Amino acid sequence: MSSAEQIKTEILKMKSARHPFCAYIYDIKGLEEHALSLAASLPEQVSLYYAMKANPDPVLIHAIQRHVKGFEAASLGELDKLTAFPDHQKVISGPAKTDEFLKAAIARDIRMIHAESLWEVERIHLIAQLLGKKVRIALRINLEAAIGKARLTMAGKPTQFGIDETRLPEIMEMIKQLPFVEITGFHFHSVSNNLDASAHLAFVSQCLMKAKEWEAQYHLDLNYVNFGGGIGIHYEKQDEPFHWAAFSQGIHELMTHAPSNWELVFELGRYLAAPFGYYAAEVMDVKENHGQAYVTVRGGSHHLRLPAAWKMSHPFEVIAVEEWEYPLSRPELREKEVWIAGELCTPNDVLVRGEFCTNIRVGDIVLFHFAGAYAWTISHHDFLSHGKPQMIYI
Ligand SMILES: Cc1ncc(COP(=O)(O)O)c(C=O)c1O
Repeated sequence: MSSAEQIKTEILKMKSARHPFCAYIYDIKGLEEHALSLAASLPEQVSLYYAMKANPDPVLIHAIQRHVKGFEAASLGELDKLTAFPDHQKVISGPAKTDEFLKAAIARDIRMIHAESLWEVERIHLIAQLLGKKVRIALRINLEAAIGKARLTMAGKPTQFGIDETRLPEIMEMIKQLPFVEITGFHFHSVSNNLDASAHLAFVSQCLMKAKEWEAQYHLDLNYVNFGGGIGIHYEKQDEPFHWAAFSQGIHELMTHAPSNWELVFELGRYLAAPFGYYAAEVMDVKENHGQAYVTVRGGSHHLRLPAAWKMSHPFEVIAVEEWEYPLSRPELREKEVWIAGELCTPNDVLVRGEFCTNIRVGDIVLFHFAGAYAWTISHHDFLSHGKPQMIYI
């Protein structure tokens, strides 16, 4: 039985007639196997890290840690969740880091701090001096060149992230005056949900070339280049996924040009975790309104905000539930393009926008796929004070 089939069977077992079903269900075994196969497909010199922001659920982290070399944390809260894993590499990223966060990272001797600006480097230096430690940093660079098409891009244009590549000469001069920091790496996270393997390879190649050029130009002794995350899930066309096999093959070829003492890092979030989370929400009502077919569910964007944030249809399937308890006829929609909405009092609470559905009835369950990353944790859980979904791990 496929893991999606197994999850459907479990849902039907768990559903109780009295309480509308609403749950996140995680396929832990699938997640572990995926992490293992990604890590195994990369060259030895390339480390797979997990970007915790994608989903910091402790059960998931525990499963993933067995197959990744490190973690990327973007807050003190995320870093604290990693104290259980002393043997893993830890790196920190993110804009607007607090002194408390930097201090904890330095005191805990983490692998690398990704610095976002000159002012941040100056603060790292001050804290390092106070703690009497020399700190390794990687500068996060906002490259001059854009990196093709993707859902979100953070380089090749103005953003709040990283150091503008064109300012590197003057910033390098200033950082050279700071004895408690040493630039031993660069960080390039520049894109989100990129679906094009060859564009991502071109990006990695460009980052490698830049790092080598800057090492020579600024007399650095590098040992770390981090390409960030950004590998995508094709939510709209699941039969056209990111071509990981071609990508990892290309990485093997590219890495023959990298200095052998460099650790090269992919800190993946979405591509690692998204396929192994499901969000299930029971149908509460169906109706037509001004000629459009609507389904409302026990749940919504306060549990799964991604489709509302991206104004997309989240991939879903309908699980037919045959039990029917009401002494009333069962409302249904047949052969309709449906809009699936949640229980919030806002027209923005929409998860599916006009997708064809053969048959959907009150009491059936809508199962949303690819809800393992940027799903529960990016959602506004307390809006309207509805009950939270169950968390189920299989
Ligand atoms: C610095 C950094 N690294 C890695 C990631 C993970 O990206 P993704 O989930 O697209 O792989 C993010 C996501 O925002 C990030 O900000």
